[in-house]
Amino acid sequence: MRILLTSEQLAEGIAQLADRVRNDIGRRPLTVVGVLTGSIVLVSDLIRRLEGPVRVSMVWASSYRGTATTPGRLDLRLDQLPDLTGQEVLLVDDIFDTGRTLEALVDELRRRGAARVRSLVLLRKHGQAEVGIVPDFVGFDIPAAFVVGYGLDFNGAWRHLPYVAELEPADLQAAPTEIANSAPDMDGILH
Ligand code: IMP
Ligand code: MG
Repeated sequence: MRILLTSEQLAEGIAQLADRVRNDIGRRPLTVVGVLTGSIVLVSDLIRRLEGPVRVSMVWASSYRGTATTPGRLDLRLDQLPDLTGQEVLLVDDIFDTGRTLEALVDELRRRGAARVRSLVLLRKHGQAEVGIVPDFVGFDIPAAFVVGYGLDFNGAWRHLPYVAELEPADLQAAPTEIANSAPDMDGILH
């Protein structure tokens, strides 16, 4: 594993994202809609930096990756969403890869009557987009590698890492339980 973004860099990027969101939306009430499961860490850090009225809701999306690192069929679950009619909505996801997840969710939130839907991603992969939409707020542009940490997983492992790291071929070959236990101990470097 190779560290791409340290926890300090992530904190700085999220502070900037929060400023940009509030500059754009002003003090109007905002409904933050996070995409499970990858956005949990981002949502929790971001909402604590957003001043003004905020409410939070989560939807679930999966592109059936399983152990693969390429996307498959998209499965969405939005049954926990509140009424969005006339609301200012900020959709928050961990990463923009092909963009199919974000595109489908933005469409769905608009269909549910949101006054305006803005989208925010922590990471955007270079040269992978397969859709017309672009996220309104992007934390970091990264190379087209498979990354884990800060909410992002590979086969369920590594979401808890406080940094974002690029997986190397040896990490992908290992069994999930082995790889989950083999994350480098970065305590001395990051804190
Ligand atoms: P998209 O629909 O291709 O843009 O994929 C977006 C979703 O795929 C994200 O919400 C992630 O859950 C997942 N994903 C894409 N790239 C990565 C990665 O490098 N690491 C972990 N998850 C990823
Ligand atoms: Mg996701």
